[in-house]
Amino acid sequence: MTTPKKVISGIGSVSYLPELLREMNLRNPFVVIDPKVKEADFGKRLMGFAKKSFDGFETNPTFSQVSDGLHLFSENDYDSIIVVGGGSAIDLAKVIGLTAANGGKAEEYFQGKKADVQSVPIIAIPTTCGTGAESSPFAVIMDSSIPKKRGIESVFFMPTAVILDSEALISLDSVMIAATGMDAFTHILESHISKKATVLTRIVSKGLLCSIREPLEKALNEKDALALEALQSIAFTARLLYPRTGLSIAHALSHPLGAFTGLHHGLAVVTFLETSMKYNVSACRDSFREAGRMVGFSSDDDLFSWLRLFIKESGMAEKISNHLVVYDNLPIERIASEALQSSNIPSNPRKIGLSETCEIINESLLNFRRGYGN
Ligand SMILES: [Fe+2]
Repeated sequence: MTTPKKVISGIGSVSYLPELLREMNLRNPFVVIDPKVKEADFGKRLMGFAKKSFDGFETNPTFSQVSDGLHLFSENDYDSIIVVGGGSAIDLAKVIGLTAANGGKAEEYFQGKKADVQSVPIIAIPTTCGTGAESSPFAVIMDSSIPKKRGIESVFFMPTAVILDSEALISLDSVMIAATGMDAFTHILESHISKKATVLTRIVSKGLLCSIREPLEKALNEKDALALEALQSIAFTARLLYPRTGLSIAHALSHPLGAFTGLHHGLAVVTFLETSMKYNVSACRDSFREAGRMVGFSSDDDLFSWLRLFIKESGMAEKISNHLVVYDNLPIERIASEALQSSNIPSNPRKIGLSETCEIINESLLNFRRGYGN
């Protein structure tokens, strides 16, 4: 399993960045920064490291935005990338770094071209508490011409160093804390019930399931700094699991929904979480029950009730409903068939086909249109 070579964590740990750059012998970093983070205090502190920065992207970055970033990167003799942001920013930086080191166009790597060498060194500073993109060998980029999110895996994507500083999360609004935290929770749960889970991965996922509930609730309700730090560390560790185990239909569906509607990844996962788990539970009864016990619930129903309450009280339900209300003609079959091509389908606990996937989509959308949890 590939992991970042260097991980620095703790509140205020971003102050080690100059020392880290010296230690890695990097003198001229290019900064990729989320446009919203750039305006926050945490982002402003980091702009001192940039001769030039790139923030020309939003949620679900596109190939044309990768190309813009690559163009800026090639204008100077940059020796590395510092990326500051959530999964979108980190995935974008990974693809810029890989393409800069290997040549050609970014799209070619998503059409089967293999990279031969490691990306330019990347220092990832995540500013959400869930994506784990900073510790994964994957990148997802939006092909807006179709529209479709394309994902690839490469060991050369792995950032060289990661700084997990929970001060980066202080300016996150509560819905984003909940959405990224619930994305991390789903990574762990899906990994635990996966068909490909092993004794080794379940030892890790059990520990993470035991650890996540309290920081998730405290981070949301109190914006507690230690809880945010714990959540960030759990998300980082969870991402090390699922290149081995794969995920499930909830994640498989989140990407086409995000591509068609622009919905944030964490919220797209939450849209399908309950219905996907209810579909799967008959095929993974023991591991699902064990997961629930690790989170602190004695029955499946208690776990589902907690999930529903969290999704509702965090404001995620309202955000998802408001976002999806204008998409009353979504191409359900197309979303379903794209989901079924996902690399997460072979690990889905229960066999699934087109009609079952369409049912999950329709039921999930109906739940949110009716005011989730009412
Ligand atoms: Fe995710």
